[in-house]
Amino acid sequence: MPQSNLPAINASTRLCAVIGSPVRHSASPAMHNAAYAALGLNWRYLAFEVDSKNLRAAIEGAKAMGFAGLNLTVPHKLLAVEMVDELDESAKTWGAVNTIRFGPDGAVGFNTDADAITRAIREDLELELRGAKVLLLGAGGAGRTAALKLASENVAELFLVNRTQSKAEEIAKEIKKRFPSVRVASGFPKAMVDLVMNATSLGLKADDASPLDEKQFSLKQTRAVYDMIYQPAETKLLAAAKAADCKTANGIGMLVHQGAKAFEIWTGKSAPLEVMRRAAEGSVYGL
Ligand code: ATR
Repeated sequence: MPQSNLPAINASTRLCAVIGSPVRHSASPAMHNAAYAALGLNWRYLAFEVDSKNLRAAIEGAKAMGFAGLNLTVPHKLLAVEMVDELDESAKTWGAVNTIRFGPDGAVGFNTDADAITRAIREDLELELRGAKVLLLGAGGAGRTAALKLASENVAELFLVNRTQSKAEEIAKEIKKRFPSVRVASGFPKAMVDLVMNATSLGLKADDASPLDEKQFSLKQTRAVYDMIYQPAETKLLAAAKAADCKTANGIGMLVHQGAKAFEIWTGKSAPLEVMRRAAEGSVYGL
């Protein structure tokens, strides 16, 4: 997207960046720079390939150089919890940091991923989560955050399925302790659910199988399917869900909402959501 409204870089330009490995595919620079342009802010957002062994040095370096903030992506979100001066409530609650704000109070870690998950589900699928029955696929970092966030929204029942079953069982145990009113089990549901959500990485590659074993659970048993993957726009799971007449959405809404919240944390201004969505779609799909 053209960023002609961005004030020219000068000695007062504020900097933010995403750090991760790999990071070159990230849509965040396009999304944030478009937002700065829309608001006429003299800010820039960059992407840095940073290996885990250099994460602490990168955070300290950005802090020393007066960066406004950082986003953290794979594989840094858990490691960074120990590397900031203070944790916001959001980072304490979800146990992961995807956003750091630098300021007089040092480096403060936030989590903007968790709220983005439920906001995107509500907006894109028009689904009420309170009282809903959900089958969640995946128990890695993204799966854990999704499971805990869904539980905190008072879903009625949560079924957790993962290749490594012990990881699903561990999350189920944590949910039983933290959200005792939610019925949680590892394994497939027998009856209908309101939502199937993919939080595995299966679908990112063209030759990946669907993360859902349809011999164990038919897509006729759900009203809606959300895939956290946004590249490709339509995974095998989403294509099958459409064919089964489910309501579907991919993860682009999540990407936009986690970025919008980070923008607000850094700038103190309301994020131009539609500008950010268009820029993210432009960057990911070449629209
Ligand atoms: P993220 O931070 O994106 O969640 P992660 O923590 O590595 O990344 O989690 C990846 C998820 O995708 C896990 O649920 C993983 O299953 P395991 O816990 O069994 O590893 C799942 N996943 C990755 N590759 C998979 C595959 N080939 N088949 C099934 N599940 C897979």
